[in-house]
Amino acid sequence: MAGDLTGKIAVITGGASGIGQATAVRFAKEGADIVIGDLKDGDDTIRLVEEQGRKAIFVRTDTTDEAQVDGLIAAAVETFGKVDVCVASAGIASVQGASNIQIRARGGDATYVHNLDTASFTRVIDINVTGVMQTCRAAARQMLAQGEGGSIITIASTAGKIPLAGAAAYCTSKAAVIMLTKVMAKELATTGIRVNAVGPGYTATPMIAGIEDNQPAMDSAMSITPMGRLGTPDEQAAACLFLASSESSFMTGQVLHPAGGQFTG
Ligand SMILES: NC(=O)c1ccc[n+]([C@@H]2O[C@H](COP(=O)([O-])OP(=O)(O)OC[C@H]3O[C@@H](n4cnc5c(N)ncnc54)[C@H](O)[C@@H]3O)[C@@H](O)[C@H]2O)c1
Repeated sequence: MAGDLTGKIAVITGGASGIGQATAVRFAKEGADIVIGDLKDGDDTIRLVEEQGRKAIFVRTDTTDEAQVDGLIAAAVETFGKVDVCVASAGIASVQGASNIQIRARGGDATYVHNLDTASFTRVIDINVTGVMQTCRAAARQMLAQGEGGSIITIASTAGKIPLAGAAAYCTSKAAVIMLTKVMAKELATTGIRVNAVGPGYTATPMIAGIEDNQPAMDSAMSITPMGRLGTPDEQAAACLFLASSESSFMTGQVLHPAGGQFTG
């Protein structure tokens, strides 16, 4: 079967919601057992994974906390004996909660760098960059100890390549995720551990909830999305599955963009 993950153990941060949740369910469909690390309760994801006939555990994890991230990987090993795949999906759009596209659609320059407070910037960097690094590091250490390779997948964004006025922290964080992914891929290239990124375009998850009722935000999003629609979490999960499976065995340091054609130009 393409994308077969039979017998694999996958750790997914941000697995309680959106892209992380869809990835957990898709991986379970392909035969993996799942470990979810999230700030939010993972009960729904556990139920959805179990409906696929697979096992799942939830470990409440703040990915900005080094010890909690190490504990997440340790819990995976304690319960399932190993870690084969790690998806670092935990992330935020902004400290305001609303997505960048919605904040920017309100107009004005309140979130431009010249008006940005340092705490708002560093909070996004802490979660989207340091949290991802700590997740990838813990997974890599475990995979190195196992000595059988593995697949680490970060969730970046097209915003890591497209500068969006008013979204400096987010764009900077996702550019950093792309570079972190590429550096780790080089460092681990001879170990059998592959490190790749999925860089979604606008995708219908709680992160951008309400965008379809916000015409200026939708217009702005669709103006850079040739397919003219939002992506689905399942479409992002499919890219994660490809990178997790042996179907992508010769790929490392790459970024896949399920983004409705944002980079066709
Ligand atoms: N939805 C989009 O349009 C879109 C586009 C590009 C990239 N992304 C990226 O995809 C990833 C997943 O986002 P989503 O759209 O599924 O959003 P989401 O809000 O549905 O899911 C994000 C999850 O991350 C968790 N989280 C946040 N901070 C955390 C922390 N410190 N520790 C542990 N968990 C934490 C949240 O609780 C939530 O469950 C993010 O990295 C996001 O930046 C999303």
